[in-house]
Amino acid sequence: MSAIALKPVVVLVSGRGSNLQALLERADVEHWQTSLGATIAAVVSSRASAAALDVARSQSIPVHVVAPEEFSSRAAFDAALATAIEPYAPELIVLAGFMRLLTPAFVRRFAGRLINIHPSLLPSFPGLATHRRALEAGVRVHGATVHFVSDQVDAGPIIAQAAVAVHADDDEASLAERVLQQEHRLLPRAVRQVLEGRVRYVDRRAVFKDIAQGELSLLAT
Ligand code: GRF
Repeated sequence: MSAIALKPVVVLVSGRGSNLQALLERADVEHWQTSLGATIAAVVSSRASAAALDVARSQSIPVHVVAPEEFSSRAAFDAALATAIEPYAPELIVLAGFMRLLTPAFVRRFAGRLINIHPSLLPSFPGLATHRRALEAGVRVHGATVHFVSDQVDAGPIIAQAAVAVHADDDEASLAERVLQQEHRLLPRAVRQVLEGRVRYVDRRAVFKDIAQGELSLLAT
């Protein structure tokens, strides 16, 4: 039997790694290979101390650290990041808690192959401290978004969203926790849809094929 080449996926991280963990658990290694025909080929972190690296190592996934403080410019950092990623020839690059802004040159280089998870219902609350800002704004519905990466911060064609009801007694921590639970459902699902070719990036838009109603939106209370 000849070996079938698996589609390589590279995951970029900076911190805790719970979304990476969810990707591995909800589409476990065997499933990744047999059903998706894909594999997480490498995890690249912008922080040497990121717990996400331990998650990767526990699954024997190759890890790389590209630390911004070692580079004099964003362009130089992004060039090093691209050098770490390129050898894996990834079909898809997943930003799962990757806390760096990418230069337009980097985004162009991997256009259509970069997706990000952001803890808000974009286009509301791009940037940091999304849960605090959602509470301050008094929104009744908050959530998370998976989108293709464009050269604007937390923008780019939306793939899928999870909505979370804001409770009257929520604080930043409780809201963050409920949104995170939904992120862990949303990201593996979106990754699968992209790998299956049911969501594609065409002319700066997300194009959907054979997606059933409800597959791209999750609602939680
Ligand atoms: C998540 O909330 C993600 O949406 C945001 O950063 C956080 C990363 O968490 N971009 P983790 O490292 O996956 O646990």
